[in-house]
Amino acid sequence: MSVSSSSARLPGPDPAAGDAHPSHDAQDPSGALGSSPTPSPAALDAPGPAAIVARLRASGCVFAEDEARLLHAAARTPAELAAMVERRVAGFPLEQVVGWAEFHGLRIAVDPGVFVPRRRTEFLVSTAVALAPARPVVLDLCCGTGALAAALGAALDGAELHAADVDPAAVRCARRNLPTGTVYEGDLYAPLPGALRGRVDLLAANVPYVPSGDIGLLPQEARVHEPLVALDGGTDGLDVLRRVVDGAHEWLAPGGRLFVETSRRQAPSAARAFTLGGLDVRVADSAEFGSTVVIGTRPAGGHTPPR
Ligand SMILES: C[S@@+](CC[C@H](N)C(=O)[O-])C[C@H]1O[C@@H](n2cnc3c(N)ncnc32)[C@H](O)[C@@H]1O
Repeated sequence: MSVSSSSARLPGPDPAAGDAHPSHDAQDPSGALGSSPTPSPAALDAPGPAAIVARLRASGCVFAEDEARLLHAAARTPAELAAMVERRVAGFPLEQVVGWAEFHGLRIAVDPGVFVPRRRTEFLVSTAVALAPARPVVLDLCCGTGALAAALGAALDGAELHAADVDPAAVRCARRNLPTGTVYEGDLYAPLPGALRGRVDLLAANVPYVPSGDIGLLPQEARVHEPLVALDGGTDGLDVLRRVVDGAHEWLAPGGRLFVETSRRQAPSAARAFTLGGLDVRVADSAEFGSTVVIGTRPAGGHTPPR
């Protein structure tokens, strides 16, 4: 069986991001999960490291040695190592197999079936950090593992962290990654406490943005092992983004900002939606991360968006 997405994994930014949602293709496993892990004593006793490398390579893993090293480091027993190799060969994302991903310098827990945070999304975090006020109120909407809130919390002293996701598995995972934050379960803003209304300084939302017709083009790791609700953004990929923008004005503090990742091609349509939502908009692009972020600011004057 071939792990097609692994064969496409390349180090550095994904030049072919297009409209497809960031995939594992852009991630070098050793880069995504950190380098030079120390093998656990139990894993060192596991038979056949060379055989594991060969098995991974035969299944399509380009970075088979790196992955074998990471699997060795993560496994506590030879049996666990064998099971991890089987799951990886079956096509599960490496991060779900070892249980974590590196994101913005943090080790983020990743549960099976939960969207793996992509390195390109670090650009959204850095952009938000650069524009953050002191002790900000942070809301990570569509939070998945909660990686964005965790990274913002780590970078910003005194941040008050809130996160929400519709998927119960993501909510459970985010609660592990955000021990000092509050994680809500439900559709976009619906589960949030009313007391948060008008108080959010940084609203980070890495929403699903793959156009429905492109889902079939995604690598197997995403298509099969990440939930459709984490990927599918509707006909043009912007359905969830528009709903987030529609509600943003109500939850942002005056001068508060909304940050949403899109593909470069989607950015003009996304920016129009921001303007219609009453936000002052600008687009930031990073060639280094292969990432585009649309930033909307709620005008301090309290202007109400046209409906
Ligand atoms: C692309 S993933 C991003 C996860 C995380 N923010 C990250 O960057 O790693 C999108 C997330 O949005 C969630 N989601 C999709 N539709 C939603 C909705 N209507 N309300 C809340 N969460 C939603 C999915 O469950 C998924 O966890």
